[in-house]
Amino acid sequence: MHVLLTAGPTYEPLDPVRFLGNRSTGKMGYALADAFAEAGANVTLISGPVQLAAPASSRIRTVRVETAQQMYEAAAQVASAADVWVFAAAVADYRPAVVEPEKIKKSGETLTLELVKNVDIAATLGQTKRPEQFAVGFALETTNELAHALGKLQRKNFDLVVLNSLRDAGAGFGHDTNKVSVLDRAGQVLNFELQAKTDLARELVQLIQSRFVISHA
Ligand code: CTP
Ligand code: CA
Repeated sequence: MHVLLTAGPTYEPLDPVRFLGNRSTGKMGYALADAFAEAGANVTLISGPVQLAAPASSRIRTVRVETAQQMYEAAAQVASAADVWVFAAAVADYRPAVVEPEKIKKSGETLTLELVKNVDIAATLGQTKRPEQFAVGFALETTNELAHALGKLQRKNFDLVVLNSLRDAGAGFGHDTNKVSVLDRAGQVLNFELQAKTDLARELVQLIQSRFVISHA
């Protein structure tokens, strides 16, 4: 099994010394890469800027990128050859409309930035997904969680969507633990316990592998 996995944040440059980013640490994505490798899969890990060392497993090829556009281009190169796509990255939805070639100087009392939409990596690749391929997305919602997550599953052509819980202390960005629910196309919801991201990653990989096999039966 060949897995394409995106992880970490993206950095969108403003000028030579500044960027727009987010607080994703990449821990969940890297834990998934390790768990897939442990389960015998080959992984192409496309990683935004993170503080983590590249995984040691020889089954994992790590491609480092910075922007959403670079992440898309790296993902598009391997998407067709991959059996399973997992979109764990926190991709910036917008980037600065202009990247200034020189450092922006301090001037007026306010500064307005114009942002333009980035490519949606999952949705764009989703349009090319073949019936034998399997796609997993992530969603973080604060209102109407299940409805919004299901909407993303349909819009982006996911087979499963992992819904991050924000309600539980110790879950999500920057933590070593996470609590998620997984939704499938039939609308079934599976709830996972709050646990270490490494353990949760193993459980998610088991679920993904079993669903991938079933969809081939
Ligand atoms: N995603 C992506 N490319 C983007 C934005 C999101 O591949 N430009 C992927 C994420 O990796 C995740 C899924 O799409 O697997 C959902 O991301 P999310 O930010 O929750 O969804 P959006 O469609 O961006 O909607 P919003 O941020 O408004 O909730
Ligand atoms: Ca988003």
